[in-house]
Amino acid sequence: MSSTLTKPGPGPEAAAGTSAAAHKITATFRIRRYDPEVSDKAVWQDFTIEIDPKERVLDALHQIKWDVDGTLTFRRSCAHGICGSDAMRINGRNRLACKTLIKDLSPEKPITVEPIKGMTVLKDLIVDMEPFFQAYRDVMPFLITTGNEPTRERRQSAADRERFDDTTKCILCAACTSSCPVFWNDGQYFGPAAIVNAHRFIFDSRDEGGEQRLEILNDKDGVWRCRTTFNCTDACPRGIEVTKAIQEVKKALITRRF
Ligand code: SF4
Ligand code: FES
Repeated sequence: MSSTLTKPGPGPEAAAGTSAAAHKITATFRIRRYDPEVSDKAVWQDFTIEIDPKERVLDALHQIKWDVDGTLTFRRSCAHGICGSDAMRINGRNRLACKTLIKDLSPEKPITVEPIKGMTVLKDLIVDMEPFFQAYRDVMPFLITTGNEPTRERRQSAADRERFDDTTKCILCAACTSSCPVFWNDGQYFGPAAIVNAHRFIFDSRDEGGEQRLEILNDKDGVWRCRTTFNCTDACPRGIEVTKAIQEVKKALITRRF
């Protein structure tokens, strides 16, 4: 019996590979680079890669770092919109790189990626977050109570919980604070994120530190610096109504009711 060896045709995996490749596009990422050990000036550098437009900007940054230039420096951790570490300015708007799809950025044109504004750039897309976190610490973002510890949990009605629900969603990414023109002009302003996190406790019925936090935000660098430009609300990747929270804190300062 004779047998004829025939060259196998493309299997399902090969077909899938072909179709995945067919979906790739050529996209240029124009990235703001800065390395203080090389130059005191930041420069734009273009990277042109093949990538599926359904991938995210974070995937493109990984591809560039792993396959093209290992010196490219950026922060990321969770890659799923939870840790808040990869806020950057993409096509001129603050966004999380891990939540931004390439197809939504008009990838036929170069996509610009630069560090968030108003903070000292340490290297490439990494900024010094310490002043941001200091403002956060300054508003005492923790439950303050007096008296003896209760023997049961501190109870709260659903309506009382709802009062500050929106501001519990903050992931401290700094997209709001670094989109605020008041903060750009003068980094002393507490900034939207600190106020959002003060709001989260001021309006918590179980907390007793509201007056203290309000006094902290009554400072010349506090809540009155807000010019209600709504940049912060537009920038927030968690959809928090940041400007509304700031307004509520201003109102609480005037009425002393919260
Ligand atoms: S309020 Fe929104 S934009 Fe601001 S730090 Fe929190 S999650 Fe980020
Ligand atoms: S990497 Fe964690 S929010 Fe984007």
